[in-house]
Amino acid sequence: MNKVKIIERIAEKVKKDLENEGSGHDWWHVYRVWNMARRIAKEESADTFIVELAALLHDIGDWKFHHGNDTIGPRMARRILSKQGITEEMIDHVCEIIQTAPFKGAGVRTKMRTLEGKVVQDADRLDAIGAIGIARAFAYGGSKNRPIYNPNQKPTFHRTKEEYLKTESPTINHFFEKLLLLKNRMNTKTARKIAEKRHRFMEIYLERFFMEWKGNL
Ligand code: ADP
Ligand code: NI
Repeated sequence: MNKVKIIERIAEKVKKDLENEGSGHDWWHVYRVWNMARRIAKEESADTFIVELAALLHDIGDWKFHHGNDTIGPRMARRILSKQGITEEMIDHVCEIIQTAPFKGAGVRTKMRTLEGKVVQDADRLDAIGAIGIARAFAYGGSKNRPIYNPNQKPTFHRTKEEYLKTESPTINHFFEKLLLLKNRMNTKTARKIAEKRHRFMEIYLERFFMEWKGNL
């Protein structure tokens, strides 16, 4: 089994599949998550092969775009992985990570069992915060025709994934419903440190947003 070749082949395939995605789930999101996951894996001594595979395949068949069905992604990943001469045990591990990784609402627990899963979930969540996270939130909101902000609509705490999926709230609410919660939900020490800085940047951004909204700046 040539691990380097397998990673290369899968990266090529995912790149082709996600190239023209316009909601912030494009290939470059996967590329950043892959990169960050590798960095965290090294510092946390996780199995990089599993981490890289799961990072590359984590957004294939995203559950939000399949009416909340979170089994499609893992199934697509399994089909791709089964052609690569990887052990069944490794395939199961990667698919478990892909199924558990996504955020499904503030009150929905998505606990990762393995260190490799924790690393991939952290890398994915780091890409949802900070300067990049802000850009992705508005890109996603735009793709769903959401307003940027409406002071009459207050943020909600979503207890189920169905509720989270149905939300039509303005994008600024998403900061309070998800993005600002992520810092305290990082699994690894390495990611927590990176998250602190990205979190601070979002706070500063929001302060300015509201000052400008009121015409005070
Ligand atoms: P991930 O790829 O990290 O699992 P998601 O698939 O949940 O994240 O979302 C992809 C991107 O779109 C993230 O940056 C996320 O914050 C953003 N996003 C998801 N839901 C909303 C929403 N309701 N409003 C604005 N942005 C959203
Ligand atoms: Ni992702």
